[in-house]
Amino acid sequence: MSCLCYGSVCSFYTGEKNRRKNSRSKKSIRKMACNLLITVLVYFRFAYDWLIDFIISKILYDDTKKTALPSVKSNIITENAVSLAEKIRTKELSSETVLKTFIEQIKAVNPFLNSLVEERFEFALNEAREVDKYLSSTSLSIEELKTEKPFLGVPFTCKESVAAKGMNFSLGLLSRKDIKATEDADIVEKVKASGAILLGMTNIPEINLWVESRNNVYGQTNNPYNLNRIVGGSSGGEACLLAACGTPLGLGTDIGGSIRMPAFYCGVFGHKPTAGLMSNRGVSFRTGNEKGTMVTGGPMTKYCVDIIPLLKIMLGNSSNFLQLDAQVDLRTLNVMYVDEPGDILVSPVSEEIKNTIKRAVNHLNSITQNSGQKVSFSGFRHCFKLWKHAMTKETDNFAFDLSNREKEVTLWTEVPRLLTGCTQFTLPPLLRLVDLNVFKPVNKNWAEEKTKELKNELLEVLGDNGILLFPSAPESAPYHYAPFFRPYNFAYWAIFNVLKFPVTQVPLGLDKRNLPIGVQVVAAPYKDHLCIAVARELEKAFGGWVSPFSSDMK
Ligand SMILES: *[C@@H]1O[C@H](CO)[C@@H](O)[C@H](O)[C@H]1NC(C)=O
Ligand SMILES: *[C@@H]1O[C@H](CO)[C@@H](O)[C@H](O)[C@H]1NC(C)=O
Repeated sequence: MSCLCYGSVCSFYTGEKNRRKNSRSKKSIRKMACNLLITVLVYFRFAYDWLIDFIISKILYDDTKKTALPSVKSNIITENAVSLAEKIRTKELSSETVLKTFIEQIKAVNPFLNSLVEERFEFALNEAREVDKYLSSTSLSIEELKTEKPFLGVPFTCKESVAAKGMNFSLGLLSRKDIKATEDADIVEKVKASGAILLGMTNIPEINLWVESRNNVYGQTNNPYNLNRIVGGSSGGEACLLAACGTPLGLGTDIGGSIRMPAFYCGVFGHKPTAGLMSNRGVSFRTGNEKGTMVTGGPMTKYCVDIIPLLKIMLGNSSNFLQLDAQVDLRTLNVMYVDEPGDILVSPVSEEIKNTIKRAVNHLNSITQNSGQKVSFSGFRHCFKLWKHAMTKETDNFAFDLSNREKEVTLWTEVPRLLTGCTQFTLPPLLRLVDLNVFKPVNKNWAEEKTKELKNELLEVLGDNGILLFPSAPESAPYHYAPFFRPYNFAYWAIFNVLKFPVTQVPLGLDKRNLPIGVQVVAAPYKDHLCIAVARELEKAFGGWVSPFSSDMK
């Protein structure tokens, strides 16, 4: 049980304060008492999480009445984007047919999911017809087309908080509900230049900073595997629509798990590249000149094979800093894993998720012929605090952004509005204001020191050929609203924003609640290709994305 692992948290805290002169017996009594306390806390946390779920399931949601998600009958929507592009290039399929099929699928699923919040279907269909016309007259060879326009005629979607010219750009803020983007974000521009066609924008949490994709502009997005459950945030609409086959390619951004979290809850792939390589111009309020930011865009896909081609396009020529074309010999990898990071602010990792990670490790061991090493570092016990501190180094001013940069929103004006039901905000941004203004900031020197220590320890064990399997979250998708009662459970994604390491979120099938689970695959900076190579192997072995329709549509 996880308490053993948490036990060391205690010895760590007391260890800091212990003086050498303490007698051994005094120390061990204190350690025992401490371990007992932690064990009680862990059981308490299990009971508390269970009780919250029990109450929500009684009051709000009945999981026994499951809605079957409809789907169009077509192989196009379950094909990977690379193969769709190939078929369009070789005129085996027309771009128009592909677009029409995805649009039909969106129309079928979106009333249940509310993932796509603005469409541009007519424009997209016209662009598809242009592509087909171009293909019937171009003098370029198939190979040339593939190099110049790798996703020619393939549809994609983008989260609403990333600018796409002419499309809504509200960030889920009521004060911005009529604002349209006047130009494309760099990543959108690049993906369009690859020949891909934008279908529409997808839902996010208000101003991106929450683990549920719900806001007062567009409402709430539901999980395709169980509508009573969250999709995660902030790229929640993207992951949801990918899983439900409404789009083959998604663009996400990640400052505290925003690509990987929804990818985990919806059972698709998401890659957070090494930070600092991808342009952030047009990502919410960002100009692209913010130095040292943790934010990075990244690809979200249903199939692993699509990650690298989309990643290369989104990176532009800074993909030269990575070795995305390198052949990875999995036998030479050094596999490590963490099963319980032990941050006491986060719910304990479920046995089912721990077992799944262990199965993934065992599978990789069968290839490397080594035994994957279980590692633990004290820094992982402070994932949330280290992220909270790292957020203070970001240039954006949350209270200012919240008002669409008119004046800082304060708790003193918003709390009375909240209590009288007049606030224009959802609860999460107000909770963040509380966190920023009421709770003590994290000690800067301690956090800097701890982050540096963790980073160095990891760099040393990962080296050139190491990969680390790390839990994504303590559990699969919770009920809507449950995250208010476990607000720090995103911290196991966020710690890798702090460290700026590349991570691929890999789906590993469904749990016994029929919800997706998966694992984070981490490598040292600039070793993105290792994460993705392992992701590919795990997809092969564990099946990757699982259709949300299969069990219901017989
Ligand atoms: C978003 O875009 C659509 C269509 O372009 C428009 O009708 C709508 O008013 C916009 N804003 C919101 C909040 O939906
Ligand atoms: C990317 O390529 C363009 C032209 O191909 C060049 O002007 C630019 O300096 C390059 N940027 C980097 C970061 O290499």
